Amino acid sequence: MEDTEKFLFTFKGFNFACYGINVEFLENLDDFEIRDDDVFIITYPKSGTTWAQQLLSLIYFEEHRKRLANVDTMDLVPFLEYSLEGRNFDKIPSPRLFCSHVPYYLAPRGLKNKKAKIIYVYRNPKDVMCSFFHFSNMMRILKPSTNMEEFMKLFLEGKVTGSLWYDHIKGWYEHKCHFNIQFIMYEDMIKDLRSSILKVCTFLGKELNKEDIDAVVSQAMFENMKSDKRANNENLLKRLPEIRRTDGHFLRKGTIGDWKNHMTVAQNERFDKIFQREMKDLPLKFIWDINEE
Ligand code: PPS
Repeated sequence: MEDTEKFLFTFKGFNFACYGINVEFLENLDDFEIRDDDVFIITYPKSGTTWAQQLLSLIYFEEHRKRLANVDTMDLVPFLEYSLEGRNFDKIPSPRLFCSHVPYYLAPRGLKNKKAKIIYVYRNPKDVMCSFFHFSNMMRILKPSTNMEEFMKLFLEGKVTGSLWYDHIKGWYEHKCHFNIQFIMYEDMIKDLRSSILKVCTFLGKELNKEDIDAVVSQAMFENMKSDKRANNENLLKRLPEIRRTDGHFLRKGTIGDWKNHMTVAQNERFDKIFQREMKDLPLKFIWDINEE
């Protein structure tokens, strides 16, 4: 078993991946200047970040929506805390779009003025864990696990990038009154992508005509995104080949309930017990199965 600590950078109690992190940037994150029209996607890893990046790129950039420009979504909606090639966020014209995995207590202070918008995408944690398990074995920068039991232990102890899933979602939900935040469920996007997109547009105050919404829906569908070089992150992996370990993909299965193919009955029961204990007071809905309403 490879040493967990060597893959994680812990800052103020939260685990970041070591790669692409700038300590000085983190130390000044609280003061990061927020503009009123900034938009942030916030997620726990493997909860739909890449998908939301594509949605915002399609909603905000006509050239992206009409396929007139060949810019990666990762460049249109960059990570706040991970910057592999160095970025100057001050130079980005408004409205700036970001994504981030930071917990609520590390978010820049300016986000609490309630003007800048946050879209928090969440996903049932069993599928998050399975997606994370595969991703950790695909990326050299993350600690690999030989089996689900090994990874589940790390996940439930928060010894992964993003720390504890429960803490992340509870933190953001319980402090939601301090932010201008809209919660979006990954499974709702799977079940009714158009409605989720309309909800996002309403929150963002973006009015797109039917043809444009059709284009957003179409280009955000799993198979279309998987073959879209701007959105499937394959360019990122090509740009940084040393971070890849296998031929896995960012867009792997994109479904609900894949955890059933990975978890034993005993693991599932153990997981449920913790979930019920940790989440009993949180009124958020979760969907665990593709056939569930
Ligand atoms: S990361 O590394 O934290 O940015 O990962 P993240 O993008 O949050 O999560 C990756 C999972 O999201 C799935 N995904 C999608 N599902 C359905 N439809 C679309 N369009 C889509 N785009 C990304 C992706 O396949 C990962 O889930 P798994 O279960 O591994 O397939």
